[in-house]
Amino acid sequence: MWGKSITISLFGESHGEAVGINITGLPSGIKLDLDFINEEMKRRAPGKSNLSTSRKEMDTPEILSGYFEGYTTGTPLCAIIRNRDTHSKDYDDLKNLMRPGHADYTGVMRYNGFNDYRGGGHFSGRLTAPLVFAGAICKQILAESDIVIGAHIKSIKDVEDATFDDMNLSSDLFENLRTSQLPLIDKSKETLMRQAILDAKLEGDSVGGVIECAILGICAGIGEPFFDSVESTLAHLAFSVPAVKGIEFGLGFNMTKLYGSEANGALYYEGDMIKTKTNYNGGILGGITTGMPIIFRCAIKPTASILKEQETVNLSEKKEATLRIKGRHDPCIVQRALPVIEAIAAIGMLDLIKRTQCQSV
Ligand SMILES: Cc1cc2nc3c(=O)[nH]c(=O)nc-3n(C[C@H](O)[C@H](O)[C@H](O)COP(=O)(O)O)c2cc1C
Repeated sequence: MWGKSITISLFGESHGEAVGINITGLPSGIKLDLDFINEEMKRRAPGKSNLSTSRKEMDTPEILSGYFEGYTTGTPLCAIIRNRDTHSKDYDDLKNLMRPGHADYTGVMRYNGFNDYRGGGHFSGRLTAPLVFAGAICKQILAESDIVIGAHIKSIKDVEDATFDDMNLSSDLFENLRTSQLPLIDKSKETLMRQAILDAKLEGDSVGGVIECAILGICAGIGEPFFDSVESTLAHLAFSVPAVKGIEFGLGFNMTKLYGSEANGALYYEGDMIKTKTNYNGGILGGITTGMPIIFRCAIKPTASILKEQETVNLSEKKEATLRIKGRHDPCIVQRALPVIEAIAAIGMLDLIKRTQCQSV
């Protein structure tokens, strides 16, 4: 379970009956935009192209509670997404043969061997479908205050897109990115990125990459230092997304290469708004929003389940073994994780906003 003013708890397994989420703390009387929710679900859903797993799931959420006559009731809102296209036989070997890079071994250790290993069980990327559902509701609530969230693929393997120009971001750009299969600022990189994924797939291998996310329209003064600072909140949620191995804010690690005079960002008045001339701190100082765009990047590792033969151990025989994974897997997770990163950004910021009041200076 995560959250203070909005709480979410995830449940389900990849090849069980369903995956789902229970959300508490949502305001009552929100008219849910079901079309928008379904569009968001489709952005993450598998089986749309040769760049993702061939598992075909509609990912239509069924709302079980907290929703009446088109509006949220304010009581816990629970939704499930049924698993339809399961090929559980493909996973028979994985009861004993641990996939390198996946959570098979750690899952066995944590749950004493009682974990559902089929399709990755509770560690499957499918658990991110309910996160996107919750994120869509939070995005809708944030949009009422003109807070918008967008993301693009910053890189796949060593193919790089441009970086967000965070002094000139607009919701129009986000709309454009939303509808692309590979959301890129520099469209000329699309062929190279697609090729990097397909080349890896052809080799029975996988690739990873970086997602860059921006949040616009947040006023200054949001965040609950120390432990629920904006960075802590977003990092906590981002690291709950399977395959995320790093996060940085603003210039992140590259900030260490600047002098303070270059990194700081001079303050100035634009009308009665206080702004900074640069935004290398990613819209956050002292764990609190500055009013500038919040910018962060997440590193997504190459998919663990690859078709190449790998070395591992056989738990029942207690000896080393080789593994050839069957199953259907994403040769690259990045493009499917992108709406999930937007979703956690929406959930995290709504939780913080509900706890803090913006100050006008
Ligand atoms: C949208 C999405 C789809 C994923 N698809 C796969 C997949 O097809 N095969 C796989 O091995 N891992 C996939 N993963 C990642 C694994 O769930 C993850 O690597 C695993 O649970 C181990 O956790 P960790 O990488 O965070 O340590 C996916 C993750 C996401 C967010």
